[in-house]
Amino acid sequence: MSDDYLSLKPTFEIVAMKADDCHAVSELHGARFARRWNDGEIHSLLSQENTFAFVAYQTNAFFRRPLGGFVLAREVAGEAEILTVAVSEKVGRTGLGWRLMQSAIREAAERGGETMFLEVEDGNVAAIGLYRRLGFLTVATRPAYYETADGKKAAALVMRRDLG
Ligand SMILES: CC(C)(COP(=O)(O)OP(=O)(O)OC[C@H]1O[C@@H](n2cnc3c(N)ncnc32)[C@H](O)[C@@H]1OP(=O)(O)O)[C@@H](O)C(=O)NCCC(=O)NCCS
Repeated sequence: MSDDYLSLKPTFEIVAMKADDCHAVSELHGARFARRWNDGEIHSLLSQENTFAFVAYQTNAFFRRPLGGFVLAREVAGEAEILTVAVSEKVGRTGLGWRLMQSAIREAAERGGETMFLEVEDGNVAAIGLYRRLGFLTVATRPAYYETADGKKAAALVMRRDLG
C-alpha cells in the first residue's frame, strides 16, 4: 500500500464525475484494463448527453485524495448500460465496486431506466461475482469476443437486471 492509504481503514465518498477527474480515471483505467482509455476518450464519453459517471475519492488520506474507483454508464430510452467500472487494486474487495454500481443503478433508474445491461469477459471472476450479487443474470454469450493479453480469445457474457 502506498502512503496515500496509510490510514487504517480508508473511507471514500462517491460523487458525480467531472471533467477534472478524467486524467485520474484514465490512469486507473490503464492500471486495471489491457487497453487504457486516454483522457480524451474518457472526456468524450463523459460529455455525451446520455452518459453519467461516478468517482470514489478517499476522504481520509494523508497527502492527496486518491481515486479508489469509477463507473461510467449511460441510459437511453429506458435501457441503461454500464460502459466501464473499476476499483484500485489497493482497495479491492472492500465494497467500493458495490457502492459505485449501486450509484449507477440508482442514477439510471432516476433517469427513467427500466433495465440495465453490461458486458463482461467470461472468466472475470471478481466482476461476475459482483454483478451476480447485484442481481444481474447472463442473457447471452458472445464467443471469442475479447482478445486477452496473451492473444487468446475469450467470450463475453451479456448480463442484465431490472431497475424497478
Ligand atoms: C470488478 C471490480 C470492480 C470489483 O470491485 P471491488 O470493489 O473489489 O468489489 P466489492 O468489494 O464491492 O465486492 C462486492 C462483491 O462482489 C463479489 N466479488 C468481488 N471481488 C470478487 C472476487 N475476487 N472473487 C469473487 N467474488 C468477488 C463478491 O460477491 C463481493 O462481495 P463480498 O466481498 O461480500 O463477498 C474490481 O475487481 C475491478 O476493478 N476489476 C478490474 C476491472 C474490471 O474487471 N472491471 C469490470 C469490467 S466488466
